[in-house]
Amino acid sequence: MCSSWLAHSRARPGGRRRRRMKVMDQLRRVPISAMKGVIYAAVLSMVFAWTEATTRPRGPGGPMPAANLPEDCNTLERCCMPKPYTGTPGIRQFEYEPNLPIRVRRPAHLLTKKEIARLEKGYKLMRALPDTDPRSLLNQMNLHCLYCDNGLYFKGADYPLEVHNGWFFLPWHRMFLYFHERILGELLGDDTFALPYWNWDNPEATEPLPNAIPSFYWNPNSSLYDPNRNICSRPPFIVDLDSIGGCTNKTADFLRVQNTRLQYTQMVLGGDTPALFYGMPYRLGDFGGGGPGTFEDQPHGTIHAWVGDPNAEAPFRPFDDMGNFGRSAFDPVFYAHHANVDRLWCLWTHLRGGKRTYPMDSDFVTSQFSFYDHKGNLVKMNVSQTLDTDLLRYKFEDSPTPWETNGVAAGNEFNIPRCNPASKSAVNRLIAATPKHSSKDILDITPLTFKVRRPARSSVGTEVLEISGLQIPNITLQAHWKAFLFFPQVNFTHGAICPEFVGTYNFIPHVGQAKYNPKRVWRVAVGPKLKALGLDHVKSVIVTLVQPPGPWLQDIKFTKAKILYDTSG
Ligand code: C2O
Repeated sequence: MCSSWLAHSRARPGGRRRRRMKVMDQLRRVPISAMKGVIYAAVLSMVFAWTEATTRPRGPGGPMPAANLPEDCNTLERCCMPKPYTGTPGIRQFEYEPNLPIRVRRPAHLLTKKEIARLEKGYKLMRALPDTDPRSLLNQMNLHCLYCDNGLYFKGADYPLEVHNGWFFLPWHRMFLYFHERILGELLGDDTFALPYWNWDNPEATEPLPNAIPSFYWNPNSSLYDPNRNICSRPPFIVDLDSIGGCTNKTADFLRVQNTRLQYTQMVLGGDTPALFYGMPYRLGDFGGGGPGTFEDQPHGTIHAWVGDPNAEAPFRPFDDMGNFGRSAFDPVFYAHHANVDRLWCLWTHLRGGKRTYPMDSDFVTSQFSFYDHKGNLVKMNVSQTLDTDLLRYKFEDSPTPWETNGVAAGNEFNIPRCNPASKSAVNRLIAATPKHSSKDILDITPLTFKVRRPARSSVGTEVLEISGLQIPNITLQAHWKAFLFFPQVNFTHGAICPEFVGTYNFIPHVGQAKYNPKRVWRVAVGPKLKALGLDHVKSVIVTLVQPPGPWLQDIKFTKAKILYDTSG
């Protein structure tokens, strides 16, 4: 399903790029059987080496080098890997293993008794590994923590590495899951073992519910259990993809519609370029990512907050374990959640519209991250090596994806009644009456509404709203807002179910050492949304930002709001 990744890389103008695409065109015709996979893999790595030499000039920082996991660690959260390193000396470059059987990741709610027992046994064995073993569940948690800005410094860099909030989010987590799955397979002596995916995007109302956390994760005697979860994330409650944690009084029927529309906004309408979906560039020396992709913040991030226990005690703050960067990977549900994230990444490449390729920047594809393999040996993997799941020998069983068409019949995606139905003249009056954004504007408990002018129309790229120069006074608090178009009366009870909803900003403080990246921007696609709202003719856009009530409320300011064309690729 994800295998034909290259088939979805579209050729575009530009000599070198076109040449590269031609090679990829030829490559995609190579059938993938185990034998041919070897040749395919070799050719692919040559193409990526060539890509490296021919893509646009390097950014100031260059690609991320592979960290020396046990040695480079200097953390406040104590998430270093065990020392001394007991694996094979040195660090090897990851290579595909074409002779491995294909591992089939199945929806968690449909696992058979036998598959549940196998999963439980795997985590039992993983929990039982000693703390000196980097493959133990505790060390898997630490490894995730370590990569969340908690203490991997490169020479000359003032800030630790952070794999969230930028374009490494998807590939890094694919690597993490790959090795995690192989470790479980090794412990089980079963190389067909595959992680299940928690099918939270599937709104079907039949039992077992795909979008509830399956009940076998709730047996206190099971290795899959984690006592630190939100009581409202337990079946029969279904997931709230528009959550800021804790319980909700939304009904299940409401949640199903809301979740589907949210997915449509984030994956289809709002995430149709590499920068929008993967997130902004992040190069060596930058501190923190330049901004997350649509999908990273919501629903990926909102699910973390929804599963975590809102009453968790200090020092683990609210939303432990899942809602806490440092601790989330201690909950086995983390891996089922991320298996679904990984699956949705695959699906994204197959959607229509926009430019759905990976970022073609050499700093992206040649960045490397280190892990411990199934034997506990250090291995480094290039981002380019994550881009084809056939070569990684796994695939996903299909599940329904009604969000692809906004939960309605294809062709009717835009026929969703607006929460703020306004006539053409009311829209014009609103535009005339609304002031432009000023850097003195404050977003507090009162929604902030401002006007932004659209640039001259272009047929290249996607029109995005970009908010930059963010000032969040207290970065030890969370910060959240939701954004709506042409809906100034909106309040926080309105959410992703409204077609005017255009995106969410979620800032989750880290216990770690990185500061807030002042260059971080927040981008959402407004061009496709305006079309969906029947407002493509307007010259200016009315944006309203709303902060949710809660302990995080603070006065947020930003210097600039503008609309530009995102031509990333
Ligand atoms: Cu590294 Cu879902 O987070």
